[in-house]
Amino acid sequence: MSTYIRDNVAALHAYTPGEQPSDPAVVKLNTNENPYPPAPAVLDVLQRAPSDWFRLYPDPVALRLRESIARVHGCAVENVFCGNGSDEVLALCIRAFVPNHGRIGYFDPSYSLYPVLAAIADVGTAPLSLNEDFSWPVPEQTYDVPLFFWTNPNAPTSLLCPQDRIAAFADRSEGVVVVDEAYAEFAEQNALALALDRANVLVTRSFSKSYSLAGARLGYAIGDVSLIEALYKIKDAYNIDRLTQEVGRAAIEDQAYMQHNVTRIRTTRERVKQQLEQRGFFVYPSQANFLWIRPPADLAADDLFNALRDQKIYVRYFPAERTKHHLRVTIGTDQQMDAFLGALPA
Ligand SMILES: Cc1ncc(COP(=O)(O)O)c(C=O)c1O
Repeated sequence: MSTYIRDNVAALHAYTPGEQPSDPAVVKLNTNENPYPPAPAVLDVLQRAPSDWFRLYPDPVALRLRESIARVHGCAVENVFCGNGSDEVLALCIRAFVPNHGRIGYFDPSYSLYPVLAAIADVGTAPLSLNEDFSWPVPEQTYDVPLFFWTNPNAPTSLLCPQDRIAAFADRSEGVVVVDEAYAEFAEQNALALALDRANVLVTRSFSKSYSLAGARLGYAIGDVSLIEALYKIKDAYNIDRLTQEVGRAAIEDQAYMQHNVTRIRTTRERVKQQLEQRGFFVYPSQANFLWIRPPADLAADDLFNALRDQKIYVRYFPAERTKHHLRVTIGTDQQMDAFLGALPA
């Protein structure tokens, strides 16, 4: 490795994103995208986008988009930060809240990007193990890290932790607790009220899942004004392009369309869960747009992953010790899920 590279970058194991195949015949159930198109108003925006939107720089603070987000959530514009995907917001949280030589906390297993972001920022990690059944431990002690990422619903396990546990944890925490709610719209509870009530809690949300806009790269955080201001101080000058700001506004303004798709996905999710259970799979009670499944004892998860892949059905396999006996399956359309069920060994 070249001596020009910083030590932490030279040693870094980069994040492995889910595969994005070019073959349109692939049934793509591997990265938790939404199988339905974005809201009709999004397509209108794309059709009428004037060339000035590309010639001129975008609004650096995405004010109109934040006004729409604030209206939907019943908070002030000053409580909203917008980022280039919620991934950017997570990275900025480390830069804004973790001092040199500090550590970030998160549960293991949860979103595998967190330790990578920590390594990039050259800060440490202090993961807390989930229980054997992926439920949350009760850390009674004050958990002393400047930043803790609490993924809820958790990925890849799909489970939802009750809000009172998160609130109690935040009240004992000396640092910032970021509740990563990329899948919140598919769940029965969320931490929005907590974030608007506590000085040390932020929620992060994504347009990639419930709003079908993974390709646009848009996410946001909601919380205390001073935390939001800190994120605005350090972001890139123009972190969200003009088209994405307009498209995001069109998407979030149509709550009925988003809810309709969420309902469809939840209905499909429960049907597929039942069918998998009938075939001997263990399926965790999901509150997200994916299922976390353990195949029957005579079927190894990695073999099943490969067998499905051979039939052009892509799901996600995480080979780490805690996750290697499971698969994560995104909920697609009913037709896609029937193809998945039909491809399972008899
Ligand atoms: C838990 C979690 N947080 C954040 C993200 C990133 O979302 P975005 O596409 O908004 O960057 C994902 C994406 O899969 C995720 O699973």
